Amino acid sequence: MLERSAPGKVILCGEHSVVYGRPAIAVPVAGLRARAQIEPVHGDLRIVAADLGEEFWLRNAPVKQPLAAIARLTLARLDAAEPDARLTVRSELPIAAGLGSGAAVSVAVARALAAFLGHKLDAEAASALAYEVEKIHHGTPSGIDNTVIAWEQPVYFIKGAAPEIFTIGAPFWLLIANSGIPSSTRAAVQRVRQRRAAERACYTAYFARMGQLADKARRVISAGDITVLGPLLDKNHTLLRQLGVSLPALDRLVASARAAGALGAKLTGGGMGGNVIALVRVEQKAAVAEALRQAGAVQVWETLVKNENGTQMNADGR
Ligand code: PMV
Repeated sequence: MLERSAPGKVILCGEHSVVYGRPAIAVPVAGLRARAQIEPVHGDLRIVAADLGEEFWLRNAPVKQPLAAIARLTLARLDAAEPDARLTVRSELPIAAGLGSGAAVSVAVARALAAFLGHKLDAEAASALAYEVEKIHHGTPSGIDNTVIAWEQPVYFIKGAAPEIFTIGAPFWLLIANSGIPSSTRAAVQRVRQRRAAERACYTAYFARMGQLADKARRVISAGDITVLGPLLDKNHTLLRQLGVSLPALDRLVASARAAGALGAKLTGGGMGGNVIALVRVEQKAAVAEALRQAGAVQVWETLVKNENGTQMNADGR
């Protein structure tokens, strides 16, 4: 049995504006992972989506089935025939929650299949393959999810440019709180596109401001100046509200985290549901996590953001 895994991710600054060419920054969440296991069996490639209780033969799967798509793309890239194997996929990441579950599954599958065939996919190759599947999930993805997940490092990302891995000057804690409301990135991106068409100048200004926040956030993170990062996250959340992708439930989570002492908080990912993040000092973690739960979070995780693989545990102690 051979296993490969890939982390989830959170966007710190610049979701949505990144679709329009502005910079964004994102970090991996090392402790929340998708895993793909592969073992030899007779009779072509069998894919098992363990969390969904589904399994199928690759040859029978529809073109747009995401697990089949990443398997076919990987085999094509390696110019390899379908192996006689069973590929089992599991994920600790909530689906449709802005934490990169789709890209994490794709990267884990691509790497497991490649390893089974005696190849190693570097970050660039794994990211490029996962990007093709992101298009099935989201339509017009910027590419930030597959990039940060395949590199498993903090990235400063501009659509179409090579990702820049940046330095974390001082590790910092984030809480990630799941609203429990499913979030469709495709729908959120479409909503922003429609609103932008009606109010172009206004949206261009919002995106420019978000890009400036991402640039500034990168500088203060590299300098280890976490106190300054909090207000940048707050401002980013205000702009995301103005774009129309927040919800009262997300605003409530953000407000509760701030009231309990978080340095800053915002929704993360496509919005209209999904997760919020809160920047916290270590001594505030427990109080802020409790406030988030009281405000309706169905799950709260904590992650230490640093350059190597961060540690992560469930703030619920599970
Ligand atoms: O997959 P999500 O929900 O984290 O969204 C990705 C971020 C967006 O900027 C909203 C979309 C994109 O393609 O970058």
